[in-house]
Formats: sequence, structure tokens, C-alpha cells
Amino acid sequence: PLARTSELLADAVAARTGLPAFNVITLEHAEAIATGAEDAGTPVILQISQNAVGFHGGRLLPIARACAEVAAAARVPVSLHLDHVEDLDLLRAAPAAGFSSAMFDASHLPHHENVKATAEAADWAHRHGLHLEAELGRVGGKDGAAPLSAHAPGARTDPDEAAAYVADTGVDALAVAVGSSHAMTARTASLDHGLIGRLAAAVPVPLVLHGSSGVPDGELAAAVAAGMVKINIGTALNLAFTPAVRAHLAGDPAVTDPRKYLDPGRRAMAATVAHLAGVVTSSGRS
Ligand code: G3H
Ligand code: ZN
Repeated sequence: PLARTSELLADAVAARTGLPAFNVITLEHAEAIATGAEDAGTPVILQISQNAVGFHGGRLLPIARACAEVAAAARVPVSLHLDHVEDLDLLRAAPAAGFSSAMFDASHLPHHENVKATAEAADWAHRHGLHLEAELGRVGGKDGAAPLSAHAPGARTDPDEAAAYVADTGVDALAVAVGSSHAMTARTASLDHGLIGRLAAAVPVPLVLHGSSGVPDGELAAAVAAGMVKINIGTALNLAFTPAVRAHLAGDPAVTDPRKYLDPGRRAMAATVAHLAGVVTSSGRS
């Protein structure tokens, strides 16, 4: 059934486990994520990024409504999250499109502008029933300094700055930089588990790990054990989908029906989802 992100996060925090969030590009992604989560028996977040909305011609509703229907039909709780939103018009469209949460990404702005824009977005979100995630921009940086994504390799979030940012903005979840980076195609990231523990102790809202595709299973489990809650995974699905499609096309050069090659791609994504959802939810914090 369709669930609310805030409830799934609260359940994960209470159970001292992680909550997987997978990025949707096409309908097949949404179907694979729901099937994989059902196979693993775990709740899951379907997240659509502003980039993915761009792929659909800038139209939010077709893919959002498809995701809402997939969520409603699922045998596990599934929530809808709008990911990496910079466009305020898109954020404003989220509640009516079925989203219960969004990530407002002002990390490209200098710190004081990030705080101001994020606080305004959080205020709007709370008045419209939306749970808001955000991330710090330049970690340890000064106002006016060149922005550095919290998920640039080498970036780290300072626990005191993180606590102040949450207090100043009123956000409900915080993406932090602890060693992962976006769009890695090899699982070679190593995380700073001590820092995760210090962040979890300092920050009163659930912590979010972006760029989790590049994080090996053991590191993911250890991150959850150290206090990470929402685990964002995108690239790993495409690393499952595309080779499966390519293999089918290579083995059947005369194929024209997309169902013939999309199905193995979708099944490969579902298997990856089931595996990663199991890793993220099986590791409890002590
Ligand atoms: O917000 C989405 C995630 O950070 C996905 O990152 O594609 O590197 O797994 P990833
Ligand atoms: Zn991300």
C-alpha cells in the first residue's frame, strides 16, 4: 500500500534499521522496486528526481501517478519521494502528485543562502504536509566559498554544523557526506563509520546516505549499524538493467518487441533491489 515517508522513517528509527530508497526513471524501475521489496519483505521508498522528471519532458504527473498506482498495489508499504529538487515549482507540485516527502537541494548555493532557501522550503513543505530532506552545501566551508556538493568525493559533514543547519532550517531529514559519492559504477567507497556515529548523536533527525550504489554490502550494513537511516540507491539499478537488456539484444538480434528485452532488465533490477533492501534492513543498530 501507499505509505508516508515520515512513517516509514519513524518505523526504521524505532526498529534501529535502515530504509531503502530507490530511484525511478521508467515505469519498469517502479515495478522492479516494488517486486524486489516484496521479495525481501521490506518497506521501500520510490524516489523520482528532478532529473528524471526532466527525462519525462518536465511532466511530473504521468510518472508520479504510475508510481502511486504501483505503490498502492504493492504488498509492502511504499512511499513516494521527490528527489534532488531545485525547482520550487516542482516542489509545490509534489503534494498533489502523491508525494509525502521531498529532498530540497540547495547545496549549490553558498551556505547562508542554502540555509535561507531551505528554511523557506521547509516552512512551505510543513504547511502542505510534506516531509523535507535537505543537505549541507560546502562542508566546513565559509559563506561565499565555491559550493561543494556534500557528496563530492572527500567531502565530510561536520556534526556541529549539521546540528546547527537542522536547527536553523527545520528540515526533517539530513543528507550527510561520509565518504559516498553519486553515480559510482564500482562498489569501492569506504565510509567513515565513526563520523556517522557522531552525526547520529548530534543530529535529531534521520540521516540520509546518497550515492549508495558505490558502497559495498558490508559498508552499507555498518553504516546502518552506526546510525544511517535512509539509504538512496540509483545507479545500481541501471547497472543491473542495462547489461540484462544488452545481453538479450545480443542473443536475439531480430527482436523488436520491447517487452522481450525490458522484462529481463526489469527482473535484473528486481533482484538487485531485493538484495540491497535485505542488506539495508537486516543490519540493526546496537
Ligand atoms: O539521490 C539519489 C542517490 O543519491 C543515488 O545515488 O545513483 O550513486 O546510487 P547513486
Ligand atoms: Zn542523491
